[in-house]
Amino acid sequence: MTSLVTQLSDILGQAFAAEGLDTSFGRVIFSDRPDLAQFQCNGAMAAAKAAKKNPREVATKIVEILKGNNIFSKIDIAGPGFINLTLTDVALKTYISGLVDHPRCGVDPTAQGETIVLDYGGPNVAKPMHVGHLRSSIIGDSIRRILKFTGYNAIGDIHMGDWGTQMGMMISELEILHPEWVYFDPTYTGDYPAESPVTMDDLEEIYPRVSALCKTDEARLEQSRKATVDLQNKRRGYYALWKHFVTISLASMKRNFTALNVHFDLWKGETDVHDLIAPMVDDLKSKGYAVESEGAIVVHVKKNDDTKEFPPLILYKRDGGVMYGTTDLATILERVRDYDPVKILYIVDKRQALHFEQVFRGAKLTKIARDDVELTHLGYGTMNGTDGKPFKTRSGGVLKLEDLIAMGKDKAIERLDAAKVGDTFSEDEKANIAMKVAIAAIKFADLQNNFSADYVFDLDRMTSFEGKTGPYLLYQAVRIKSLLEKAGYKAGGDILLSDQDRALYLMITELPEVIDTAVRNYTPHVVCDHAYKLAQAFSSFYGNTHILSEENAAQKQSWLTLSAMVLAQLELSLDLVGIEIPARM
Ligand code: ARG
Repeated sequence: MTSLVTQLSDILGQAFAAEGLDTSFGRVIFSDRPDLAQFQCNGAMAAAKAAKKNPREVATKIVEILKGNNIFSKIDIAGPGFINLTLTDVALKTYISGLVDHPRCGVDPTAQGETIVLDYGGPNVAKPMHVGHLRSSIIGDSIRRILKFTGYNAIGDIHMGDWGTQMGMMISELEILHPEWVYFDPTYTGDYPAESPVTMDDLEEIYPRVSALCKTDEARLEQSRKATVDLQNKRRGYYALWKHFVTISLASMKRNFTALNVHFDLWKGETDVHDLIAPMVDDLKSKGYAVESEGAIVVHVKKNDDTKEFPPLILYKRDGGVMYGTTDLATILERVRDYDPVKILYIVDKRQALHFEQVFRGAKLTKIARDDVELTHLGYGTMNGTDGKPFKTRSGGVLKLEDLIAMGKDKAIERLDAAKVGDTFSEDEKANIAMKVAIAAIKFADLQNNFSADYVFDLDRMTSFEGKTGPYLLYQAVRIKSLLEKAGYKAGGDILLSDQDRALYLMITELPEVIDTAVRNYTPHVVCDHAYKLAQAFSSFYGNTHILSEENAAQKQSWLTLSAMVLAQLELSLDLVGIEIPARM
């Protein structure tokens, strides 16, 4: 169904057209001053400017035309030419009746199945996932959900880091520690053991130690580089070890992402494009895009109007190793070839902005991506602790995602106990609710912000059942569910509007524009804002209205219908940001 403001914009647009002005000036928005009007149109000022007329006169002409339309109960002009509009209850009711039981809460899909690839998550094999990967995953997954709901073929790809120098560091370290292992015997031609010789804990211990060592010890770094190149050339024993790293890392990643309710359509990694790299570089060389520079092979991506030095995109290092940018360029080639997307979105830490600028310039310059393929880096800010510094554990280390989720769950249990929620439930159900509360808290705290900003991770605040938090929203949704259950609600009956509930009905009509804004700007926070505003408005309505004891049966049914519509919007909005609501709490 066409959204209410779109319908109103059409009516206003016709009025402008009747005055010989462009229909686009008729755009209607929700009123800034709900105390004065429900809607407003600011187009008279711009229209007057374009037609060199007086804005108030233009507004007056438009209003005269609109007066012939009986859907408005009040139309007036404010200030220089703002047109304020209020609908009759009959008109409002006609629209709202269409929303009852609407499977998409009145929001039509606007896309036609165009493909958008989203690159988020990006965990690294053999390294623990940390809070940066948390932000990428939950923001990326939410944007994927919103795009999918809008009708795009949205494909989420985890794009694991599985091919970099860290692999060489691990392998060379294991070779130093266990030179006798069959993986390091160059003459061995048999099969390698099916069981991994190392655990995730071993890898987590090795990586930070060797990575620190390589920063000070040039010879050790050289060993790691060499092992990386050998691995990339698929030296058998190294490759077999690497496979083990991937398997055990994947198990840990899948555990984390299941807990977070984050979904990926593709579980690809840097390795998947390895075989595309050599032919790609050859091709770029033959076309003159890739050239030699100080022993390396690079693409010059500097533009004439750059005001600063802009480094070239390095495809092969002097030692023949490939770079982060090489795999990203080859991945664009693969994605364009296999999915033909209209856009590729990268939800990655904003500190990687230069890297993406280099890769995108390289892809456009070399025509690996056509001009009409949008390549966008959606950079998010740093997650800080309550001290305002990048989030660390008490001992100063990087906090593992797994530990962070566990902390959230412990806190949620504490909160639920304090509120005496679920006292009579089974232990299993309580644990399940605590997990949902924890994930809602973590996700909502992140997603309610404009993600490009840094944000403060404050577990105490985000798990509260009061204020703008995930648990507050879950609680409100569950409360409505239980109201409807108690009342034995079934859809049907007439919508009755009154001063007590009209504002809430109007808020429900805002959803299509909320989602449209979120899609255009890739901003899940506007969906969070809507959910919170709606939950708050419902809560105060509910506090002032005795629904269950209402004697007028038609009025009671109408309020229950309103409650069901609010619940449906809360469920949809929370689902779009990846938050699950418990059945009860
Ligand atoms: N693995 C990278 C990291 O941990 C993130 C990957 C982001 N995606 C990409 N296509 N570069 O920083």
